[in-house]
Amino acid sequence: MYPVTRSSARLALRELSTEDVDAVLAIYGSPEATEHLSFEPRSREQVGRIVARSVAAAVETPRGEYALAVVERETSELVGFGRLALDPHQQSAATLGFALRPRAWGAGYGVEMVRLLLGVGFDDLNLHRIWGARSPWNEASARTMAAVGMVEEGVIREHVRKAGGWRDSVVHAILDREWSAATGSRVAGR
Ligand SMILES: CC(C)(COP(=O)(O)OP(=O)(O)OC[C@H]1O[C@@H](n2cnc3c(N)ncnc32)[C@H](O)[C@@H]1OP(=O)(O)O)[C@@H](O)C(=O)NCCC(=O)NCCS
Repeated sequence: MYPVTRSSARLALRELSTEDVDAVLAIYGSPEATEHLSFEPRSREQVGRIVARSVAAAVETPRGEYALAVVERETSELVGFGRLALDPHQQSAATLGFALRPRAWGAGYGVEMVRLLLGVGFDDLNLHRIWGARSPWNEASARTMAAVGMVEEGVIREHVRKAGGWRDSVVHAILDREWSAATGSRVAGR
């Protein structure tokens, strides 16, 4: 599906463009925003490559990756980066990633952004299951995923290599019927 457009009260999702590199760098280049992520802060060059790859992947057929800009509707500024990647190991499933620039934290945008991304996955792509993995110390992510109805399922041991050591991940997931029950939307095919 291209292009993705979806909005909530304060935020909107849109496709990324090559002009978004500096705004994405304010997230992926930030030591604060990447503290619990699987990678160290990215350089501008690395972010440039990620954005270029995402822009190219958006028009592939079939599309396997939905890396999207999260913009504040009032200002049109890019405040977040969200990603759904179809999971090659599970039917009708995707992994979820999300991050906001630190200045946007603490105002409920995290929950609003993840709901928009789940809406793309379930309502537009008719997925069955969406899951995300977080650091055991990422309390903000744990609470954000819990707030949208993602159930904590367990631990992937020594999942991520960071700062010279292995780190566990905690998995959260939500199924289509749980999303429907939470939002009143219909599960495809039923
Ligand atoms: C995770 C993140 C998106 C949350 O965004 P946010 O806009 O600050 O979150 P919200 O305001 O929507 O709050 C969502 C929940 O998280 C809680 N929360 C937010 N920041 C928190 C913090 N620093 N510590 C503990 N809980 C926190 C809120 O209290 C709320 O919980 P509640 O519903 O139980 O009250 C943001 O912190 C972020 O971008 N972090 C860096 C990237 C990241 O870790 N991404 C997740 C990868 S798995």
